[in-house]
Amino acid sequence: MVRRLIWLALAASVVVAAMFVPALRWLLWSWEANPILRGRLVAERNGCLNCHLMPGSGELSNPGSRWGTVPRFGAGNAMMYAGSREELEEFIRFGAPQEWLADESVRARLASQHLRMPAYEGRLTDAEIRDLVTYVAAVEKVDVPGNVESEGRMVAGRQGCLACHGVEGSGGLPNPGSLGGFIPGFLGGNFDDMVLDENEFREWVLDGESARLARNPLLRFVWRRQEISMPAYREELAPGEVDELWTWVVSLREAPSP
Ligand code: HEC
Ligand code: HEC
Repeated sequence: MVRRLIWLALAASVVVAAMFVPALRWLLWSWEANPILRGRLVAERNGCLNCHLMPGSGELSNPGSRWGTVPRFGAGNAMMYAGSREELEEFIRFGAPQEWLADESVRARLASQHLRMPAYEGRLTDAEIRDLVTYVAAVEKVDVPGNVESEGRMVAGRQGCLACHGVEGSGGLPNPGSLGGFIPGFLGGNFDDMVLDENEFREWVLDGESARLARNPLLRFVWRRQEISMPAYREELAPGEVDELWTWVVSLREAPSP
């Protein structure tokens, strides 16, 4: 009798473990960084966005400066300031490109303008600066990962996918109550866990969930409680647009690390 009870208890714990171990894996799910996302976090922590992403769509006025304002990130201004990753890095390290600093009249202008780009050399590590450059290069479209000309990227722009999935799909934006507390992007292992193949990608985009993951009771429980859910785009997308989105996402995932 006792033996039978022990066996029963053992069998019950095996069943419970089999149910909870896969669930635990999802409960412990955490976001995986990538250079763009790390760069965005460095920018937030160091006040870059205070000046470069003023609330609303306006730019901070900056009397005395060459173009009269502080350039807003993502507004297509970079070409007037920096043409390469090297120049972006010089802005961040020294407050201006070396070429500006070598010119006495430009130095005089910088000294007299109302706001000045601070020099972060010494405050940030080389690794932080590298990530910042990658983030700024992506938002400023100086060096965008993946296929920049891709139709899928235009579709994502029109539909606002990146408002939730981050700059160029770099993910990590907050989502209270969700697995890990963040919205996954299109890169790395977080995406691999959510999207096995093109078919699952189509399900996510068209239906707002994946049939495979919807069979997991823990995930269904979380999905009902998370603040932001993936919208279904079946009615929004023209035929073929989901294929274009997939082609672009693949190009992002295959892009070499900067
Ligand atoms: C006090 C406001 C201020 C802060 C804070 C600030 N910047 Fe700037 N930044 C400027 C101004 C002003 C310019 C334009 C240069 C000029 O007119 O002298 C500029 C220019 C730039 C440029 C070149 C223009 C462009 O859009 O590509 C980059 C890159 C840049 N800043 C990145 C950063 C980063 C990264 C941080 C945080 C580490 C930062 N800035 C923090 C004011 C600021
Ligand atoms: C309102 C915010 C929002 C918008 C807009 C949005 N998504 Fe999502 N998306 C989510 C959330 C939240 C999840 C996470 C799903 C979960 O865990 O339930 C997700 C999941 C996904 C996934 C699977 C998870 C992963 O790692 O990426 C894909 C693929 C995806 N979305 C693609 C898109 C595409 C393509 C668009 C634009 C056509 C888009 N999303 C627009 C919020 C959004």
